[in-house]
This record gives sequence, C-alpha cells and structure tokens, in this order.
Amino acid sequence: MLIEPLGFDAALKRAQSLMQDAPMRYFMAAKSLPEAQLLLAMLYALEGGKALRAFLVIESARLHGQSFDAAEPAALAVECIHAYSLIHDDLPCMDDDDLRRGKPTVHKKWDEHTAVLAGDALQAKAFELLAQDDMPNALALLRGLAVASGHAGMVGGQMMDIAAETSEAPFDLSQIEAVQRGKTGALIRWSATAGAVMAGASCAGLETYGDRLGLAFQIWDDVLDVEGDAAETGKAVGKDEDAGKATFVSLLGLDAAKGQAVNLVEEACEALSIYQDDAECLREAARFVISRRK
Ligand code: IPE
Ligand code: IPE
Ligand code: MG
Ligand code: MG
Ligand code: MG
Repeated sequence: MLIEPLGFDAALKRAQSLMQDAPMRYFMAAKSLPEAQLLLAMLYALEGGKALRAFLVIESARLHGQSFDAAEPAALAVECIHAYSLIHDDLPCMDDDDLRRGKPTVHKKWDEHTAVLAGDALQAKAFELLAQDDMPNALALLRGLAVASGHAGMVGGQMMDIAAETSEAPFDLSQIEAVQRGKTGALIRWSATAGAVMAGASCAGLETYGDRLGLAFQIWDDVLDVEGDAAETGKAVGKDEDAGKATFVSLLGLDAAKGQAVNLVEEACEALSIYQDDAECLREAARFVISRRK
C-alpha cells in the first residue's frame, strides 16, 4: 500500500494514530509478571508524544515511493529510541523530572530499575523492528540508527549536555551546536532520511533538511523551557537555567535564539527544492516546529 499524500495536520495525526495502535501489534505477550510490568512501562513511554519522528519517516518514505508497510516499523523504531532517550533523560541522575507528556515519568510511575530497563528494552526493540526480511535496505537503516543513537549521536549529545552543567568555561556556539546535533538532531536526521535510505536514493536534500530541523527543534524546546507552561508542554519548565544547561537561549538570549530558529527553518525548507511541491508537508512541519506550544 503506497502512502497517501496528506496535508501536514492530517499527516501528523496519521503518525500519532500509528503510535496509538502499532506498539501493541509489534510487542509480544509477556510470560511473567515482571515482564508484564516492563512491557507496560515500554508502552506507557511510547504514548502521548507528538510522533514527529514517526511522521518524518512516513513522509520521507512517501516522497521516495515506499510502502506504508515498510515505513510503519521504521517509524515505530525511531519512536522507541526516542522514548527510551526520554525515560533515561528524566532519571534523577540526568534531568531529574517527574512529569513527561502530562503524566508521571516512568521512574515515578514505577521505580528507577523499571525505568532503566524499559529504556534498555525499547532500544533493543528498535533494532528488532528494523531487522526484518522485507525491510528495504535494512542494513543501511540499522547502521544509520545505531550511529544516530550512540556515542556519535544521541548518547554522545546527552553526555555533552550534562557535562556543560559543570563546565568551568561556558560552552560557545559551536559546542552548543554539537550538543544539539547529537542529543536531538541525530534521530531527527535519521528519520528525515529514512525513506531515501529505504529507496537507495540520494539523501542529500533530506539530510540538510533534517540537520537544520533538528537544531531548530532543540532551540524551540529550549525556548519553551523559558516561555512555555507545564500544563501545555506536559513537562516541567524553567529548569534549564537552574541546571546550568548550555543552550542557544542561555548563550544568545530568547530573541536571537528565535531568530536563529527562523533562519534554520528557512534553510530546511530550501533544502527540499528537488521535491518541489510534493514536500510541502515537510515544509509545514518545519514551520510547526518553531510555532508549537508543546
Ligand atoms: C522532546 O522531544 C525531547 C527533545 C529531544 C527535545 P519531543 O518534543 O519530540 O517530545 P514528544 O515525543 O513530543 O513528547
Ligand atoms: C532531551 O533534551 C534530549 C534527549 C532526550 C535525547 P531535553 O532534556 O531538553 O528534553 P526535555 O526538555 O526534557 O524534553
Ligand atoms: Mg536533558
Ligand atoms: Mg530533559
Ligand atoms: Mg528541554
């Protein structure tokens, strides 16, 4: 089944409804009570997000003529890595947060060992989802997601993010960009390029789009930490400054950070020129990223 072209709102809803319904279909039944608790925690952590990364996978797959059947497990895979990164990000030894997506964080709802293990299991599940016989270009997708998740990607970025809290010299712009390209950008880049990778096509335009979108996305996350409220964002706000986080906002101030995000979104949209009007949904997504309230 080919992927139907939709406007941005409907396409994001499609990704969100996939996230409501696909995890149950792909997760096996538990054989013991502790395993049931682990699975519950995994499903809990996958619920209620914007599903932006799933949306990006589906859109890039659509642009490259891939089927929904191939896009679905890849979309779920990156949301598994993302959900795991959030569970661990919220732990007391990391950002120490009690609220995520408007609900108690996994370690608050259950306990720390369940949170650590649910994150670990979601990470493994992501690679299981991609490693299917009928996944187009599975090896390239797997390698890309492994790199994007690991020391040169999300985990490396998280390490730098925490290191910045106690660094004597404040991080400069290029260091902050490196943090953000790692902790947030890497998974967004993988998602935006996944469809081209499946098709064995050039990723250049989507790679630039994903890179600029990833930076803009994290700038806006940092803006919402200052300007947002917990009821709307579903997570605690006003924490980055107290924790000593290195962000575009801490370095440049709110207005310049927002200006930077606008420039990045322009660059992201320009990078899609080869797709012409067919990429309008991705351009709308980029504008959404810097206007969202959560
Ligand atoms: C939050 O990501 C964490 C960052 C990488 C900034 P999202 O804002 O995409 O979170 P959900 O998935 O919608 O909850
Ligand atoms: C989190 O960045 C990035 C990852 C989880 C990889 P933040 O710590 O800023 O995300 P929030 O604000 O807690 O969602
Ligand atoms: Mg963090
Ligand atoms: Mg955090
Ligand atoms: Mg944040």
